[in-house]
Amino acid sequence: AKKAVLGPLVGAVDQGTSSTRFLVFNSKTAQLLSHHQVEIKQEFPREGWVEQDPNEILHSVCECVEKTCEKLGQLNIDISNIKAIGVSNQRETTVVWDKLIGEPFYNAVVWLDLRTQSTVESLSKRIPGNNNFVKSKTGLPLSTYFSAVKFRWILDNVRKVQKAVKENRPLLGTVDSWLIWSLTAGVNGGVHCTDVTNASRTMLFNIHSLQWDKELCEFFGTPMEILPNVRSSSEIYGLMKAGALEGVPVSGCLGDQSAALVGQMCFQDGQAKNTYGTGCFLLCNTGCRCVFSEHGLLITVAYKLGRDKPVFYALEGSVAIDGAVTHWLRDNLGIIKTSEEIEKLAKEVGTSYGCYSVPAFSGLYAPYWDPSILDDMNRDCGIPLSHLQVDGGMTSNKILMQLQADILYIPVVKPSIPETTALGAATAAEAAEGVRVWNLEPEDLSAVTMEQFDPQINAEESEICYSTWKKAVRKSMGWVT
Ligand code: G3P
Repeated sequence: AKKAVLGPLVGAVDQGTSSTRFLVFNSKTAQLLSHHQVEIKQEFPREGWVEQDPNEILHSVCECVEKTCEKLGQLNIDISNIKAIGVSNQRETTVVWDKLIGEPFYNAVVWLDLRTQSTVESLSKRIPGNNNFVKSKTGLPLSTYFSAVKFRWILDNVRKVQKAVKENRPLLGTVDSWLIWSLTAGVNGGVHCTDVTNASRTMLFNIHSLQWDKELCEFFGTPMEILPNVRSSSEIYGLMKAGALEGVPVSGCLGDQSAALVGQMCFQDGQAKNTYGTGCFLLCNTGCRCVFSEHGLLITVAYKLGRDKPVFYALEGSVAIDGAVTHWLRDNLGIIKTSEEIEKLAKEVGTSYGCYSVPAFSGLYAPYWDPSILDDMNRDCGIPLSHLQVDGGMTSNKILMQLQADILYIPVVKPSIPETTALGAATAAEAAEGVRVWNLEPEDLSAVTMEQFDPQINAEESEICYSTWKKAVRKSMGWVT
């Protein structure tokens, strides 16, 4: 049969904590043409430890690419129209691999992992000068969440890595680096790079100079020569070396929360999005300025869409556990069979009769991080949010979205394309110099159709719901009796 003529297409890898996806979009209309998804295992070798197999992550990406291409073939769509690939990924998760044989030395230490608590405590006693040493350079608090301490743990505890460092064999990276290196690897290895958004989650990256910071690398004991090159979020890093898309440029890279900000087209100062994935991440674009939070929010690099393009920053409020609690109800408690059942069950009961559940499995990134994230963001940004743009798997739950609108007392707005993370990575890939087909600025992309949830209770009822929730959080953390 004759193949359909569609014009240039863009592919996007969305490598999250719970699953990997590959999606192909029409680069002009942002229409999703096909995709494939594979769940990813998490291992919990000890209490508080969370690991993943880097090879499983890589193979899941390759499988998703191949299966999506097969599905496109069945739709009569010619895969030679795929002109670029973007990568978005779970951030902070740390991989160390052998550049000679391309094999990981140890499992990926996942962002949720808490094994480095004692490292963080002892490092915080050694902070030179003042308490702001890490924060003023990186926008981040010294925490188990970020990559530098995960690598410190690997270096201190994995013999093979200690030996390999002496032989100049290891390469260090977050998941984007591991994937781009592996996907572009020929006989002499692949391209060892990361983008500014992922680098900004390591605690080693100076968000002002946009370079690895020598003092921070010394402080955390990270040899600078094993770090990836830091590139913009939109440029050609290398070409796919094998598989159905061999030869296609990999030309976009964004940490998944930054990718969702781009995919939601939050390009204006003060625009924010909230993604309900494994965790929950609220990012507010602060333009080209770093806004230091008075309320425990993080500064993260939002995006830099091209080598010569300006860098944009965001304030971020992170919640460790969101969709992960649904998986816990399904896989550990066994009280549901599929995530979708949650909404049906919630509809049946109508009310929780004042019962709250606070899923603090990895702490609440607290006690130092305040639970009232949106209030803090409004205070730090100085402009209260008029609405909240949302995305992520759990936004398909209408009851949850309505509760969110009621409790925040602002409209919650959901794009008709739920795949905003992948769309952001695809946008970055399509915009790269040497790839661009449509000559559109990302800002020109027309807004996608929205579904809106308006508050359905009055201001007083909303305030009661919100303050009761905050009380539940305080109780769960033992702050009040
Ligand atoms: O910071 C961690 C975050 O990037 C993980 O995202 O999509 O796996 O919840 P997700």
